Amino acid sequence: MEERKPGRVLIGEEELERRTAELAREITRDYEGLDLVMVGVLKGAFVFLADLARRVELPLEIDFVAVSSYGSDTESSGVVRILKDLDLDIAGKHVLLVEDIVDTGLTLKYLVGLLKERGPASVEICALLNKPEARKVDLEVKYSGFEVPPLFVVGYGLDHAERFRQLPYVGVLDEMEGSGRES
Ligand code: IMP
Ligand code: MG
Repeated sequence: MEERKPGRVLIGEEELERRTAELAREITRDYEGLDLVMVGVLKGAFVFLADLARRVELPLEIDFVAVSSYGSDTESSGVVRILKDLDLDIAGKHVLLVEDIVDTGLTLKYLVGLLKERGPASVEICALLNKPEARKVDLEVKYSGFEVPPLFVVGYGLDHAERFRQLPYVGVLDEMEGSGRES
């Protein structure tokens, strides 16, 4: 397989930091006095959740779920499977699902439905990135960091075939030299 290098920067480090701080302020305001559980969707949300949670000025719990909805390439498989379930009991608590990106919306639609069966007080979504043009199901994203065009993006937790998650910015895969996706 050829080497794929991060291409054009779509969202830089400072912008990510500024927007994450804004979202954290909104969450701090909205969840004051409530039992908040922030649930990161692995693996893509790990960077965003870490930055976001550290700026939320409330007592809160953190947990993770892992689902598989994508294969190793950029096509949606349409299949959602739980690979790692929550450790915490969310009954009566306010759940905030933290996700890297909402694309078709299939993954989160499934997760929201599943978690609602466990009797939480509420389930809302906080997504760093949102690709509204790719949406296949109706989904309310209460906290949305940035709207992005229907391009494949990597970095700040997002991968392509498990690479590029550690980039401190969000870049566009299609515009990477030698990515084979230019046309
Ligand atoms: P959805 O179910 O189609 O909304 O897919 C959401 C999941 O697909 C995200 O959590 C990502 O893991 C992955 N995904 C969708 N678009 C991208 C992208 O542009 N870059 C990296 N991962 C993506
Ligand atoms: Mg993901």
